Amino acid sequence: MSQFKVLITRRLPTTLEKLEAIAEIEVWPERQPPTYDVLREKVQAIDGLLCLLTDQIDQALIAANPALKVISQMAVGFDNIDIAAATIHKIPVGHTPGVLTDATADLTWALLMAAARRVVEGDRFTRQGKWQTWEPDLLLGPNVSGTTLGIVGFGRIGQAMARRAKGFEMRILYTDPHRAAPELEQDLGAEFVSFEQLLQEADFVTIHTVLSAETYHLFSDRQFEQMQRSAILINTARGPIVDPAALYRALSAEQIAGAALDVTDPEPIPTDSLLLTLENLIITPHIGSASWQTRKQMADMAIANLIAGLKGDRLPHCVNPEVYG
Ligand code: DGY
Repeated sequence: MSQFKVLITRRLPTTLEKLEAIAEIEVWPERQPPTYDVLREKVQAIDGLLCLLTDQIDQALIAANPALKVISQMAVGFDNIDIAAATIHKIPVGHTPGVLTDATADLTWALLMAAARRVVEGDRFTRQGKWQTWEPDLLLGPNVSGTTLGIVGFGRIGQAMARRAKGFEMRILYTDPHRAAPELEQDLGAEFVSFEQLLQEADFVTIHTVLSAETYHLFSDRQFEQMQRSAILINTARGPIVDPAALYRALSAEQIAGAALDVTDPEPIPTDSLLLTLENLIITPHIGSASWQTRKQMADMAIANLIAGLKGDRLPHCVNPEVYG
């Protein structure tokens, strides 16, 4: 008989044998996540929860089963989980750092290139039968090579962007609450600057910071006014870091030249959002980590965290190690 009961809130792109050996597993079978009420109900009968960033794991949900042995999130970000509430109940929370760094930086780079060189607009133009001849001024965009990249948040993914930008001989500016070690700055050719300087000087601004009370709507009217009119903004971090109404104003008034978002506020973006009417904006559906290899690694890491938590072992990747204090 299985020792433990677990709930996995969506089908995962990996096998569950290791978990099956110790637990009775319920996998939420639908494409849409369980509703909050369903999740709160189900949480009461389990020992371990494997969740996704679409599940709201708040104080009330955690209080529904304070004896939960582990919450394991299949994502590096965990802003959907009330970590303080989990910590109070000594519930370790796992996440999946590292394995999605390159996949996310690759997608970010793809969006940067696509926005600069108007790839999506070009595809639309062609499909609409508008391509009639080669034209000297058709779909022009800015150079990428040799320009200035501004990186907001210099963690793993921000640094991976600097590595890519180095290959394009870009000037690399970054801002972060913590300055990187001089050797790392030198290795990546990255210059630490204030947020304001970065906004004023960067041709491309890319966001790689966590979502917190401090970064909520970090990009709003004032920040767009400080950016160059030719600048392009890329956000593959979390949607609410950018104020969507201010972004619409900035893009429609050509206060900035373009933007590319893999994350929106809210998600999914409402189909009647004015942002969807803009030609100078690319939007993808939160697919930063969506390579086959990466998603399998994320699922395997989340399962490893879940199993460790069920067994009472320290999670390999724990967000709140204070629970072990
Ligand atoms: C994360 O892991 O936080 C991404 O947003 C999804 O892969």
